[in-house]
Amino acid sequence: MDWGMKNRLSQLIKPDGHCFFLPIDHGYFQGPTSKLERPGETIKPLLPYCDALFVTRGVLRSAVDPTNSKPIILRVSGGTSMAGKDLANEGITTSIKEALRLNAAAVGISVFVGSDYERQTLLNLAKLVDEAEDYGIPVMAVTAVGRELEKRDARYLALSCRIAAELGARVVKTYWCDDGFDKVVNGCPVPVVMAGGPKCETPLEVLEFVYDGMQKGAIGVNLGRNVWQDGHPVAMIQALRAVVHEKANPKQAHDLYQSLKNKK
Ligand code: 5RP
Repeated sequence: MDWGMKNRLSQLIKPDGHCFFLPIDHGYFQGPTSKLERPGETIKPLLPYCDALFVTRGVLRSAVDPTNSKPIILRVSGGTSMAGKDLANEGITTSIKEALRLNAAAVGISVFVGSDYERQTLLNLAKLVDEAEDYGIPVMAVTAVGRELEKRDARYLALSCRIAAELGARVVKTYWCDDGFDKVVNGCPVPVVMAGGPKCETPLEVLEFVYDGMQKGAIGVNLGRNVWQDGHPVAMIQALRAVVHEKANPKQAHDLYQSLKNKK
């Protein structure tokens, strides 16, 4: 592996082999979604506890201090919205030149396996990998499901992750599932990180699925709504970080959450 690629990956994946990415990219199709109305305000208190931020260039330039940032995973796919016909109809929105200008540690792109835009989004990924690899920039593929959240079972996620890895993604971001997440990870030859999806009912539920996913081989998380839509986001991110980086079990992490949540 070339020095640049290795260096960028080591900014994202810590010496313990684990990572905590904080996604603040939802506005690129959801608009000013709840708790992300002012992204800079959401990011600021959480920044010390994440290993990297997943953002679009617009949020990066307008809401992230370039003199005090974590490594950036630049969201480079989009072109759809909640108001449009199909969230899967994405293109590449941002060039590699722009990713270099912004000093991105990686770029991230969604693929929509099984959708009407399967071929288009998979070829977007392949093209992005071709361009990004020339400059030593890792590509993180996001196995997206749009509005079809029910698609998130082991069979579908294993298919999506494997295809993304085969097309050259260096890291794959997917959903945790309760019917064989180990099969998803074992079938994917590159590291897998877990997204959260819509907010869970309780913090414990989140800590439990993240713990389970880590036991089954995920290297970390790319968790958004279940952090910043929680009533106590700073406590939540620290509790999750304890699971990802400090081998905390759900009970220990939940105790930490409880003790932190009332602190000023
Ligand atoms: C949005 C994304 C998000 O990065 C991803 O879904 C993770 O966020 P959350 O934990 O809120 O699901 O790709 O398109």
